Amino acid sequence: MAFSEAIRRRSGIRTAAVGLISTSVEANRIVQSDQADLVMFGRAYLADPYLPRRFAQELGVDVQWPNQITRERARPTR
Ligand SMILES: Cc1cc2nc3c(=O)[nH]c(=O)nc-3n(C[C@H](O)[C@H](O)[C@H](O)COP(=O)(O)O)c2cc1C
Repeated sequence: MAFSEAIRRRSGIRTAAVGLISTSVEANRIVQSDQADLVMFGRAYLADPYLPRRFAQELGVDVQWPNQITRERARPTR
């Protein structure tokens, strides 16, 4: 995180932070406090492919479902 913040502040280059970030609150805090422009996830995303959607919900952000998923959800259950 220190590298991301330092590079961002001194050069103006946009940076991403990654590594041991596992909660929505933590990810949001990193972006809101200007430590990085983007937060990325490795293992947490592998464990939960819906991670961005879950985090958005936890943070009260309304995100659009991809068409492919809404199409499937609209199908009647057999
Ligand atoms: C299965 C797997 C594959 C990865 N492949 C790459 C890769 O190709 N290039 C890379 O820079 N980092 C790769 N990483 C490292 C991740 O980008 C990340 O730095 C690391 O997993 C720490 O973040 P995390 O705590 O969110 O998992 C990989 C990590 C995992 C678990």
